[in-house]
Amino acid sequence: MPVITTIEDFKPIYRRRVPKMFYDYAESGSWTEQTFRENTSDFDRIRLRQRVAVDMEGRTTESTMIGEDVAMPVALAPVGLTGMQHADGEIKAARAAEKFGVPFTLSTMSICSIEDVASHTSKPFWFQLYVMRDEDYVASLIQRAKDAGCSAMVLTLDLQILGQRHKDLKNGLTAPPKLTPKTIADLATKWAWGLEMLGTKRRFFGNIVGHAKGVTDASSLSSWTAEQFDPQLDWSKVARLKEQWGGKLILKGILDAEDAKMAAKIGADAIVVSNHGGRQLDGALSSIRILPSIVEAVGDRVEIHLDSGIRSGQDVLKALALGAKGTYIGRAFTYGLGAMGQKGVSTALEIIRRELDTTMALCGRKDVKALGRDVLLVPEDFEGKWV
Ligand code: GLV
Repeated sequence: MPVITTIEDFKPIYRRRVPKMFYDYAESGSWTEQTFRENTSDFDRIRLRQRVAVDMEGRTTESTMIGEDVAMPVALAPVGLTGMQHADGEIKAARAAEKFGVPFTLSTMSICSIEDVASHTSKPFWFQLYVMRDEDYVASLIQRAKDAGCSAMVLTLDLQILGQRHKDLKNGLTAPPKLTPKTIADLATKWAWGLEMLGTKRRFFGNIVGHAKGVTDASSLSSWTAEQFDPQLDWSKVARLKEQWGGKLILKGILDAEDAKMAAKIGADAIVVSNHGGRQLDGALSSIRILPSIVEAVGDRVEIHLDSGIRSGQDVLKALALGAKGTYIGRAFTYGLGAMGQKGVSTALEIIRRELDTTMALCGRKDVKALGRDVLLVPEDFEGKWV
């Protein structure tokens, strides 16, 4: 087994192990993938201020997100089809998160259902909701998340329509994969993945199959998003859903100060500055670049989280130093899960914590809750002047 010292080390193993259509699904942005690329390259533009001769004993990465204690402010993001990256993937990722002490967010588009994840974990997880046209179905999803004891609802606002990812169309992405000469040839080289999949009953969209009506092909993400997702979702519906849920609400997919103000006005507990990992509006700015303008607009009124582009503990530190209270990793844990199952997710979290802790120390800081812009060197034109 190769020695894993960085998130990147998972990738070649993940690629060898998991069918191409699922590797490509995770490793894609929409259209030209400009935003997908810039999500990571913009983090690289920010540098760190080394400070020396500072007592570094007693450091801590512990913090809180929406009032919940976290071992570090890094939650697992909702990732669709996680259970296709590894058999029972959502359960494994949720267990790794629980053991580590960080939140796990279950996607509406998961393979393992809400109830299934709840019965295999002991701490509450967060549930991510996509709003569908069928209001009864949405109400039932919300009720199911309540019954399962979910401690927050993460409402995604940037995917009423699916951004086009060329590879998914070319690969004919479905869950489970449809057998064609191309997929059979690929699956023949992914036998370990296949054997584990044959050993589980969790191979379909667990929150949908048997629950949602009017889906012509329940295995196809693109057909059910096109048929089911509510194109009329607006702020008044968001307010209604907040009432319906009645618990902690996190609004995900905010990339503009005006939208952040609306989210704060509605009384969200937190917002996630996010461009959906570069998977939706290609050409949008990276999350880290937008973050300072959103902190300035609403930082005193709502807790600010960030996702899109985080692949290391150094990225986490940069986001926190620019004003985020919490962050999310999606691909960074998916690579680990695809490569090695639950152990891979635990290792990914451990790598990120070590990077965060060591970077803090070398920047002369001991407390992750007290990081400010003064630990960073940010290029003057970082945010850019956009007219
Ligand atoms: C769903 O959330 C996706 O980005 O595919």
